[in-house]
Amino acid sequence: MDQLTAHLQMRLLEKGGAVPYELLLLADPSRELIDSYIFDSTCYIAYLDQTAVGVYVLQEQAHIAEIKNIAVPEQYQGKGIGKYLLHHACRMAKEKGWSRIRIGTGNSSVGQLYLYQQQGFEMTAIVKDFFTRHYPDPIYENGIACKHMVLLEKIL
Ligand code: ACO
Ligand code: ACO
Repeated sequence: MDQLTAHLQMRLLEKGGAVPYELLLLADPSRELIDSYIFDSTCYIAYLDQTAVGVYVLQEQAHIAEIKNIAVPEQYQGKGIGKYLLHHACRMAKEKGWSRIRIGTGNSSVGQLYLYQQQGFEMTAIVKDFFTRHYPDPIYENGIACKHMVLLEKIL
């Protein structure tokens, strides 16, 4: 564990607590979609002193737990917090009895695809045209049009 992540404090978002939209919107530009999963999911916020430096949302589904949203503010990216949040989510899902965890990301999210595979997630499916169907504005990353959702799973 590196210096910074050793000082992180993970806090569960209590029912009725202020939803950290600013962070969640970094990973998912649709507030409407965020509202469709945030209220029936578990949300953890990572703090460094009193500053929120990361968030993830875990939804328990029929046969699998899914990380619906994971985000770190730009000035804190690249310091190992994302990796720490992924580890935490996997541990929480396993403790709750799940044997598999899923995460989905855009076809254009090259860094995220790298990170998730590096952390043991394997590609299982592609939801064609997910982003073009659900988001009104075109999304471009790394010079690539974001159209499809790539699903990755990890055995816990
Ligand atoms: N591009 C290139 N490499 C990346 C990226 C990226 N966008 N993100 C992470 N990495 C690499 C890092 O270089 C590092 O590699 P290394 O271990 O070989 O040095 C590794 O992945 C781990 O990086 P961390 O520092 O742990 O990741 P970070 O704290 O930056 O968090 C995250 C990663 C959550 C994706 C962050 O970049 C972020 O919030 N991005 C914007 C929101 C977003 O895209 N969220 C995910 C959308 S999908 C979903 O929410 C289900
Ligand atoms: N990793 C990251 N970025 C890459 C890579 C790579 N391995 N290869 C190319 N790129 C990027 C370049 O950075 C460049 O991006 P930019 O335009 O944003 O600056 C872009 O892709 C184009 O790069 P070129 O210089 O045109 O590509 P290059 O001449 O290096 O050829 C190739 C790419 C053929 C993949 C070469 O790296 C290679 O021979 N690699 C080893 C063999 C291989 O993997 N072949 C493909 C296997 S799949 C198949 O054969 C069907």
